[in-house]
Amino acid sequence: MPSYAAHHKTAVPAHVAIIMDGNGRWAKQRGLPRIEGHRRGVETVRTTTFAARDLGVKMLTLYAFSVENWKRPQDEVGALMGLLEYYLKKELETFIRDRVQLRTIGRTDELPAGVQKLLRTTMEETRHFTDYTLVLALNYGSRTEIADAARAYAAAVVAGREQLTDGSWDRFSRYLYTAGMPDPDLIIRTSGESRISNFLLMQGAYAEFVFTPLLWPDFTKADLAAAIAEFAKRERRYGLTSEQVKPAPGATQ
Ligand code: IPE
Ligand code: IPE
Ligand code: MG
Repeated sequence: MPSYAAHHKTAVPAHVAIIMDGNGRWAKQRGLPRIEGHRRGVETVRTTTFAARDLGVKMLTLYAFSVENWKRPQDEVGALMGLLEYYLKKELETFIRDRVQLRTIGRTDELPAGVQKLLRTTMEETRHFTDYTLVLALNYGSRTEIADAARAYAAAVVAGREQLTDGSWDRFSRYLYTAGMPDPDLIIRTSGESRISNFLLMQGAYAEFVFTPLLWPDFTKADLAAAIAEFAKRERRYGLTSEQVKPAPGATQ
């Protein structure tokens, strides 16, 4: 699906996605347990949610837990799930007050039952808010997503709801977790790593990337604004030439 920004030619990315990385290192630098970094990371989730909206972003996707993260030490995984539950409990009121729609991407049916219940309630109670959407990537992995989508698509073919002769990306992408969502315009990763770690591989096909050395707990609204300013300087060509996307001054189209 083409991005909002491609249609509206705006300097502000409509959909920003963030790989929130570096909580563990933030804690380690201070001689604190890793979970303390995650706790501070949750505070950054809060501030960033509202910072993005203030800056004109319409959709914010946060990579909160990957399918690979289950392989971390059990006490860390348990603590992360506990934090997620605490966060959802605490934020519901704020989402309603500030008109934030919540949605998720990922295999959420494998999350603890308590978390699933909170997610369902929160999504149900915020589904009518259309101005701004927070998307949490939970138990998310792009390869799992493609495998799940391929299975669902194959089942639809068998059921006669899809035709093998119409195998376009447009139709297939409806089976991804991101069905109905615009593609991310800008993907930010904190902590200095320059990798994608199984995040929105297909949807990010034409996203702009900004990598920052800041650790996630240290990321502020000013840093988000700086990433957006960097995005505004980029020329998105989608395979065309520079002349095609930026007609000469005075040229008529
Ligand atoms: C990101 O911080 C949060 C999650 C992946 C859940 P990390 O926990 O990966 O922090 P580092 O990379 O070890 O510093
Ligand atoms: C990516 O961070 C996943 C999330 C931010 C939830 P990781 O810390 O898990 O990624 P790697 O292991 O450095 O690639
Ligand atoms: Mg990490």
